[in-house]
Amino acid sequence: MPTTTVFSPWNESANMARKSYWSAKKSNRHVLYQLSVQNVEQEEEFLSETFMKLRGRQALTLREDFCGTALSAAEWVKKDKKRTAVGYDLDTEVLAYGQEHNIDPLGEDAKRVSLEEKNVVSVSRKKFDICAAMNFSYFIFKKRKELLKYFECVLKSLADDGIFVLDIYGGSEAQVVLEERRAIEEGFTYVWDQAAYNPIDNTVLNHIHFEFAKGPKMSRAFTYDWRLWTPQEVVEALEEVGFKDATVYWELEDDDGEETGVYEPAKVVENQEGWLAYIVGSK
Ligand SMILES: C[S@@+](CC[C@H](N)C(=O)[O-])C[C@H]1O[C@@H](n2cnc3c(N)ncnc32)[C@H](O)[C@@H]1O
Repeated sequence: MPTTTVFSPWNESANMARKSYWSAKKSNRHVLYQLSVQNVEQEEEFLSETFMKLRGRQALTLREDFCGTALSAAEWVKKDKKRTAVGYDLDTEVLAYGQEHNIDPLGEDAKRVSLEEKNVVSVSRKKFDICAAMNFSYFIFKKRKELLKYFECVLKSLADDGIFVLDIYGGSEAQVVLEERRAIEEGFTYVWDQAAYNPIDNTVLNHIHFEFAKGPKMSRAFTYDWRLWTPQEVVEALEEVGFKDATVYWELEDDDGEETGVYEPAKVVENQEGWLAYIVGSK
C-alpha cells in the first residue's frame, strides 16, 4: 500500500494546483484506484524474489487473476524482455481501460501481455510460473467449496515448480465498521469505508470513496462484498487441493515498530490490530 503523504507547507501553490486538478466529474475511478491502492513495484519485487528464493531460477510467466486494469501484468513485462503475462478479469470495461492505458503504452513490450475476459475459476492451457491474486480479490468466494474450486484451477494452471501468491488482510480493526482517510500525494483523498461486518460468517461490505479539494466526492467508486478469510483457512484450503506447501509471509518491522515492506515466512507473530500479509502456495 502506498504511504501517507503530508503536503509540504513550503510549496503551497504547487499543492493547491495539484489538488484542484482532481474532481469527481473529471477523474477516472481507475486512475484514482491505481494511485491510492496499488503498489505494483513492491508486488513485482515480492513475486520475483520469492520465486527465485524458492525455485532457484527466474520466473518468466505470470497469470494475473482479477487483473482489473492489469497494472501488475504491465509492471511484470516491463522488468524483463523474456517475461510474459496473461490477465484474467470478467469486466469488459476495466479490461478495455487497462489495455488502452497500461498495456498499449508499453509499445513493443505490449506484445508480451494478453488480457482475457475470463473467469479465474478456469484451468489455463498454458502453464505459469506464478499465478497472483492481489488486493484480496479472492474474498469474493464466500463458500469454502468455491474457494477450493478456484485454488484447484490455479494449481492445474501452474508449471511443475509454479507458485501461487495471494495477499490477505485482517486484525481486530478489519472486523469493525469504520472509515479511514488517507491523503494521496497526487492531491486527493482516499476513503476506505468498512460499512458492515457480520461476526457470524465473517463477511464484510466495504466501499472506496474519493474526496477532492473542491466539489462533491466520488461515492462508492468501488464496492466489495467479501468474506474475510483467515490465513490458516487459506493455508488449509491450499494444502487440501494439493499444494505441497502453503506459507504465510508476514511483514517485518524496523526497530521503531514501523512497516518495512519486507515480508518473511512466519508461523507465530505478535498480534496486531490491522495487518496485511502474503500467502504463497508451492506446487
Ligand atoms: C479488487 S479488483 C482487483 C484489481 C487489481 N488486480 C488489484 O490488485 O488491485 C477485483 C477485480 O476482480 C474482477 N473479478 C471478480 N470476480 C471475478 C472472477 N470470478 N473472474 C475474473 N475476474 C473477476 C472484477 O471485475 C475486478 O476487476
